[in-house]
Amino acid sequence: MDSSLFTADLPCKSLLQSEALLEYILRTSSYPQELELLKQLREATVKKYNFKSVLTVPIDEAQFLGMLLKVMNAKKTLEVGVFTGYSIITTALALPEDGKVVGIDPDREAYEVGVPFIKKAGVEHKIHFIEADGMSGLKHLLENGEEGTFDFIFMDADKDNYINYHDMLLKLVRVGGLIGYDNTLWFGTVALDDEAPLPEVLKRSRGPLLELNSALTADPRIESTILSIGDGITLCRRLY
Ligand SMILES: C[S@@+](CC[C@H](N)C(=O)[O-])C[C@H]1O[C@@H](n2cnc3c(N)ncnc32)[C@H](O)[C@@H]1O
Repeated sequence: MDSSLFTADLPCKSLLQSEALLEYILRTSSYPQELELLKQLREATVKKYNFKSVLTVPIDEAQFLGMLLKVMNAKKTLEVGVFTGYSIITTALALPEDGKVVGIDPDREAYEVGVPFIKKAGVEHKIHFIEADGMSGLKHLLENGEEGTFDFIFMDADKDNYINYHDMLLKLVRVGGLIGYDNTLWFGTVALDDEAPLPEVLKRSRGPLLELNSALTADPRIESTILSIGDGITLCRRLY
């Protein structure tokens, strides 16, 4: 992705309309519970990527996902879009000792930033990184006989194409398992008029995400809910 797209002009990646309220949540709940190594990973990501570090999952959302995985007793999960590894480490820490998270991302350089923190967290044995784009990575998993084996799938890459991944993701997740599509409220722009002026970086993905949101609601194979945490995450539970 073109890193020049990430500028200081981007709105804050939270849907809360009061910055003070977000600050309150972070200060009161998220930061005090964040592991030191994850804080250090956030800092290392900002140092290397500057504004592009906005790609990292928001901390309150990461903590929510970690808790969800524990409640689900998830053992095997998949993540498309690993970047420097904040969400994959949070996931690996939430899985049991013999759990496994498969991460797919074509950007090995970004993943390497996270490797020392993966080691610090002691979760190397739970993470399997596949250096590939999402489509080829998922095809590989299907060909490898992993259909219906994932308890949870976090889809956090290639947003304009989410809808084209949906059938493959539904095959990979087990019946009763969850797919989480990230950024489905797209900085709040999904609620704006089509004519509203938007920065180019937001304009491009808005249409595909609007289409996805309608398609997920209409899909009889799942039940879904849009959560307004972070930039919006749609959870889809496979029904059959
Ligand atoms: C929003 S970031 C992921 C953030 C990550 N979950 C975290 O917590 O830090 C998106 C990632 O998707 C990757 N990506 C871009 N296009 C992709 C594609 N077609 N398939 C898979 N990953 C892709 C980028 O390299 C980037 O690292």
